[in-house]
Amino acid sequence: MSEYEISIVGTGFVGLVTAVCFADRGIKTICSTRNEKNAELINQGIPPFFENGLAELLKKVVDEGNLVCVTSREEAVLKSDVTLIIVGTPFNHIDKSINLDYMKQAGTDIGKALAKKDDYHLVAVRSTVVPGTSRNMVGKELTELSGKELGKDIGLVMQPEFLAEGRSIEDTFWPDRIVIGEYDERSGETLQKLYERFYGDHIGENCPIIRMNIESAELVKYANNSFLATKISFINEISRIAELVPGVDVGKVSNGIGLDYRINHRFLNSGVGWGGSCFPKDLNAIVAFSRSKGLEAKLIQSAIDVNDDQALHAIELAEELLGSFNGKTIALLGLAFKPGTDDMRYAPSRRIASKAVSLGAKVKGYDPKAKESAEEAFGQDGTEIVFVDSVEEVVKDTDCAIVCAEWDEFLELKPEFFINNMRTPCVVDGRRIYDALEFSKQLKYRIIGHKLE
Ligand SMILES: NC(=O)c1ccc[n+]([C@@H]2O[C@H](COP(=O)([O-])OP(=O)(O)OC[C@H]3O[C@@H](n4cnc5c(N)ncnc54)[C@H](O)[C@@H]3O)[C@@H](O)[C@H]2O)c1
Repeated sequence: MSEYEISIVGTGFVGLVTAVCFADRGIKTICSTRNEKNAELINQGIPPFFENGLAELLKKVVDEGNLVCVTSREEAVLKSDVTLIIVGTPFNHIDKSINLDYMKQAGTDIGKALAKKDDYHLVAVRSTVVPGTSRNMVGKELTELSGKELGKDIGLVMQPEFLAEGRSIEDTFWPDRIVIGEYDERSGETLQKLYERFYGDHIGENCPIIRMNIESAELVKYANNSFLATKISFINEISRIAELVPGVDVGKVSNGIGLDYRINHRFLNSGVGWGGSCFPKDLNAIVAFSRSKGLEAKLIQSAIDVNDDQALHAIELAEELLGSFNGKTIALLGLAFKPGTDDMRYAPSRRIASKAVSLGAKVKGYDPKAKESAEEAFGQDGTEIVFVDSVEEVVKDTDCAIVCAEWDEFLELKPEFFINNMRTPCVVDGRRIYDALEFSKQLKYRIIGHKLE
C-alpha cells in the first residue's frame, strides 16, 4: 500500500470537494494542481473558491494530515494506489464540442508516471467526457506512455460525478447511486471495494452501485444532465404558456404535475433559466457529439434554445413595466448562476446584464458571495456593471430590480424595501420568490410564469 490511497489530478470544484470528502473519512489523499498559488492555499486549509461547508472541512482534513496538495502530478500518482482524473472538460467556443485537451494531458502525465511504478494502479476518469474518451484517449495515453497493459498492470474505470454545486459536500457523502463503467472486472471491483469502505452502510437499497461498460457510464452522465436541464426548460416553456392566460400561475401548474410520482417536484421551478459549469457545456457537447456521428439531438437542442430565450424574457418583462431601458438604471439581485456558490459560468445574470446595457441602461449588481468572480466574468464579457456590497446599495436609486438568483437574504424583502429605496419601485421576479399579489398591489411587478388578472 502506498503512502496515500488516492491521488486526485485537478483541484477545481469537483476535485477539491472529492479530495476533502475522502480525507474526512480517514482515506489519505494527495491532490495535484499546476497552480502553485492554489496548492499553497489548499495546504493552508483555505479553498480557492467558495462552496457551502468546504472551508471548515478542508481546514479539518489538512490539520489532521489526511490531505495534501502538490504541484507534481507524477509525485501524486507515484505516492498513491488509485488516481482520479477530475480536470475540466470545457467546450470549444466555435462548434461547442467538448474540449478534451486537459483530459489528454492528464492521461499523458499519468501514463509517464506509471512507467516508473511496478504495482497495479487504478485510474478513474471522474470528469464528464463524451463516450469513447476514457478508453480511446485516456486508456491509449496510459498504455503508450507507461508501456504497460490495461486490465493487467493498470485498471481503468469511468465513474460519472453527479454532485450539484451549493450542496456538493452533502451530495458526495450521500449519493443516491454510484455508477461504475469498467474496462474489466478487476478495475470495477477495485473501485467498488473502495466505495464500500468509504460509504459503509449507505451502500445498498438507498445507494446501489451499478456497473456497466465504460461508454455506457460516460453516456449516463450526459443523459442525466440533459434530462434535468430539459425538465427545467420544459417548465419554463410551460411558464411562457401560463403567461398567455391571465390568472394562470405556473407555480400551481408545476405543483399539479410534480405530485405525479412519475414526474416529481424537483427541477420543476421556472425562472430565468439554468447556467453553471455543467448543463450548458454538457448539453452542447452531447449535441455536437451526436452531430459528429450524423444524428441531430433535437430535444436536447430545444432545451438549450428555450433556456437561451428564458434569461432574456426577464428583459421583456422589465420592458413591459419600464417602457424603454434607455437612460434607466437596473439592479441585478444575485449574480451567480444559483445561490450557495460563487460560480459565474454561464450565469443568466450575464446575458441579462449585457442585454440591458445594449438597450442603453446602466446596471448595478450585488451577490452575497460572487463579487470577485462576477467582476472577472463581466470583465470577460466586456459588460460594464457597477458592483456593490449590499442589497440596499444595489436597489438604491434604480428603476427596476431583477431577481436573478434566489439567495436567502432576498427572500425576506418586502414591497416597502423596494418602495423606500428605489427611484421607481419596480421588480421583475426572475426566481419567483415573492408573493405576486402582495407585490403587485404596491409596486410595478412582474413575475415569471404568472400574469395577474
Ligand atoms: N462543477 C460541477 O458541479 C460538476 C458536477 C459533476 C461533474 N462535473 C465535471 O467534473 C469535471 C471538473 O469540473 P469542475 O467544476 O471541477 O471544473 P473546474 O474548472 O472547477 O476545475 C477544473 C480543474 O482542472 C484542472 N486542470 C488541469 N489541467 C488544466 C489546464 N491546463 N487548465 C486549467 N485547468 C486545468 C485544474 O485543477 C482545474 O482547477 C468536469 O468534467 C465537469 O464537467 C462538474
